[in-house]
Amino acid sequence: MNEIKVTPWEVKGNINYEKLIKEFGTEEVNDTLLKRIEKYTGELHFMLRRKVFFSHRDMHWLLDEYEKGNKFVIYTGRGPSGDMHIGHIVPLIFTKWLQEKFNAELYFQITDDEKFLFSKKENQTIEDVNKLAHDNLLDIIALGFKPKKTKIFIDTEYAKTLYKEAIKVAKHLTFSTAKATFGFTNESNVGQIFFTSMQSVPAFLPTIQKGKMTPVLIPCAVDQDPHFRITRDIASKLGYPKPAAIHSIFIPGLQHGGKMSTSEPNSTIFLKDTPKQVKDKINKQAFSGGRDTIEEHRRLGGNPDIDVSFQLLRIIFEPDDQKLQKIYDDYKSGKMLSGELKQICIEKINAFLEKHQEKREKAKDSIHDFLISD
Ligand code: TYM
Repeated sequence: MNEIKVTPWEVKGNINYEKLIKEFGTEEVNDTLLKRIEKYTGELHFMLRRKVFFSHRDMHWLLDEYEKGNKFVIYTGRGPSGDMHIGHIVPLIFTKWLQEKFNAELYFQITDDEKFLFSKKENQTIEDVNKLAHDNLLDIIALGFKPKKTKIFIDTEYAKTLYKEAIKVAKHLTFSTAKATFGFTNESNVGQIFFTSMQSVPAFLPTIQKGKMTPVLIPCAVDQDPHFRITRDIASKLGYPKPAAIHSIFIPGLQHGGKMSTSEPNSTIFLKDTPKQVKDKINKQAFSGGRDTIEEHRRLGGNPDIDVSFQLLRIIFEPDDQKLQKIYDDYKSGKMLSGELKQICIEKINAFLEKHQEKREKAKDSIHDFLISD
């Protein structure tokens, strides 16, 4: 049986996203919601048009508040388990768009505490993970968030502010709820059981720091939703508004379904990869929806829906709908071969990474415009 599992720390199997909406109890991103968003933004981001962001919680409430003049703050984050990969930036590219379109403030949490507590590498110290946090910070800044409207914090360096609020969350969270939500066992370390309290806090910080009820929107991939189910339950107990959320699908690993993940480097395109590494990984590892022989491919056509290179173009690297449709049609009809599709994908990724790596270098000069601590 194809076992499916979606938690913040493990994603397995071929995910049926429609089923996940039912299982998690979220709502579908439908055309009514898209029309409503478009009313304020003037256009829809391609990740919305293509339902890459497919699920949400309370977006209508958030927009009702926005209509009343109660502006929302965006909250998202990153857990520094290693170098960042192209999956991590799906929610971040969308977050940047949201920040621009709604002129919203952004709170960005980097959870070095989480990755220390959950690391399977016995010798990895909190100092090692903190170093990764500072390195990831450059990739995050490079994505182009507005410096005056963005606060980035690393948990162990903003602990005075975060801890005071996290214990209030923790007081309302029982072990049995944490166990049922995340699958912890008696062998899980107690830091892991506590951690979700830290991830809840930034959803409440805007209200605490502004001293008035401030709606919050969390863009993330759907694996993070279990944390925010807990956050939303506890919000009312603490007298804060429940954060709204909008969830994306995953960029799959190159060789299989599930999610692209740092723990499988051969199946992953990292933001630091060289053009040659990208070329080799896509050519050798990316699962193809093509046929076994050229003759067969020309006759029967390929299957873009299961082809990982096509999915990379659809989810992140080809924003132009017309160009994407042409690639889809040509591949499906057999006019375009697998090697040609892979070549397009390689060029797109490398063009993106070349610019990203330049911006990453420049980001070193603007760390202090973004990073806060206490
Ligand atoms: P992390 O570092 O695992 O992931 C960062 C963000 O990327 C999303 N993501 C993906 N999206 C598409 N395709 C993939 N293959 C893929 N892999 C990961 C994640 O859902 C996440 O949005 N605990 C969090 C850090 C965090 C956070 C938050 C994330 C703290 N506060 C608020 C989102 C919102 C973590 O370890 O994320």
